[in-house]
Amino acid sequence: MGAHGVIYLDNAATTFPKPLEVVRAVEECLQHYAVNAGRGIYPLARRADEVIVAARYKCRSLLGFAEGKLIFTASATHALNQILLGLTWHGGDVVYVSPFEHNAVARVLHHLEGTVGVEIRQLAVDRNTLSYDLEEIEKQFFACPPKALVISHVSNVCGVIAPLRELAAMTKKYQGLVIVDGAQGGPMLAHTVRGDIDFYVFSGHKTFYGPFGAAGFWTHGQVPLQPLLFGGTGSKSEEMAMPEELPDRYEAGSHNVVAIAGLQAACDWLAAIGPQVIMKHERELALRLVEGLSCVPTVKVYTNPNVNCQAGIISFTVVGYTAQEVAMILAQNYNIAVRAGLHCAPYVHRFLGTLPHGTVRVSFGYFNTIEDVDALLQAVEEIV
Ligand code: ALA
Repeated sequence: MGAHGVIYLDNAATTFPKPLEVVRAVEECLQHYAVNAGRGIYPLARRADEVIVAARYKCRSLLGFAEGKLIFTASATHALNQILLGLTWHGGDVVYVSPFEHNAVARVLHHLEGTVGVEIRQLAVDRNTLSYDLEEIEKQFFACPPKALVISHVSNVCGVIAPLRELAAMTKKYQGLVIVDGAQGGPMLAHTVRGDIDFYVFSGHKTFYGPFGAAGFWTHGQVPLQPLLFGGTGSKSEEMAMPEELPDRYEAGSHNVVAIAGLQAACDWLAAIGPQVIMKHERELALRLVEGLSCVPTVKVYTNPNVNCQAGIISFTVVGYTAQEVAMILAQNYNIAVRAGLHCAPYVHRFLGTLPHGTVRVSFGYFNTIEDVDALLQAVEEIV
């Protein structure tokens, strides 16, 4: 049982609770230096600047990048919009996506399909094992080369991990761009993120355990983007054009110093524990859940049987109940918080055949325990 008497199993929506270190850093900032960064030379402003610089460096390094630029945005959705709407597209450009994309990607691409005429194609993924069919994808790319690959590192619905290295290398054979939505990946899977990536998007309030309002993306900086937002950057203010330099070019407006201060503390907390330790813990809980659910008649679980391709996010359905009914009973009768429905990712439910009601999604975090899993299993058994 976690904070507030609730068994919180909705960490893919946002990790909760946040580490106390994050709470304290936010409070410290609000009380002592929540001023505008990058605009003043007085000591308080310099302290805010320093926190932002340190947070940039720590986020970049937790994402596994030794070089390149880390851009802060308000959310991962904002970052994906900046990248996808900032690129130059031509009619007929082929963009490959996985069947797992969130609407933060799907809706932007749908917009580009309507306005510019990009062509969206889905990568071959096996419907039963939820595994990427790399041989078939080779053939897809050969027949119709990618201008870009836009891919969820980890599915927010069923936790499937994309074989990023292989897919990125295959895309680069055709000089395609590789854009990764790492909202559910990031530090937990940084060891799988090397080379061949052009943009990697992260969410500060999810796998980083930071507050809402601090997210962004990494880029090597060689692929130019039109800024999504125009405005003050505290630099080159006499020029009407946005500065060319990164991060300023994509960071118009005041920084969310408070959220970034929390994110910096979250980075320290994560680094001290080790993101891979957290990943291992979440996977163990997920495995126990999958094993338990597999024994419950009328429950169907949607996972990849290869544990190395599966993160701590599990979706299931119960025959005779909609996902919303199950989630409602879990909340009202058992104080268990899960997310039901489409999870803003309609492609995957079309792919899994779980439309219109979607699935019950359980997503683990560092603060969950084996007892939480067992309480959920008992509740599902009782419902069935
Ligand atoms: N994208 C978040 C989720 O998967 C909100 O729940």
